[in-house]
Amino acid sequence: MSKFTWRDDYRVGNDLVDGQHEHLFKLANKVFDAQDKHALKHCLQELFRYVRKHFKDEERLMSQLSYPDYDHHLQLHNEIELKLSKIDAGFKSDQFSITALHTLMNDWLLDHILKDDRSIGEWARKRR
Ligand SMILES: [Fe+2]
Repeated sequence: MSKFTWRDDYRVGNDLVDGQHEHLFKLANKVFDAQDKHALKHCLQELFRYVRKHFKDEERLMSQLSYPDYDHHLQLHNEIELKLSKIDAGFKSDQFSITALHTLMNDWLLDHILKDDRSIGEWARKRR
């Protein structure tokens, strides 16, 4: 399975968000590097916890910036969280699909960051 490689052109232009995104790439790779079930469980927990923290931080930033697309963006976060919860539940009931997680991370890390999160960065620059 291909690894996630951080690139500077993924930056949205906000240091907090960019630092967290880069860390998410690292945590996602740790999941795919996990060698056994115990390690996988630990890495998944770490990833899921960090995703939730990251979303909360991003949502706080959007509200501080009076970001006009806040509600839609919040909805996108909720959808991703729901998908992660399903994957987490699958892990707990021994029906875990690493491929499903990879697809979700790939779609999210690349699509959501490059499109939706970038709009937050653009809005922040305009307001300066
Ligand atoms: Fe986001």
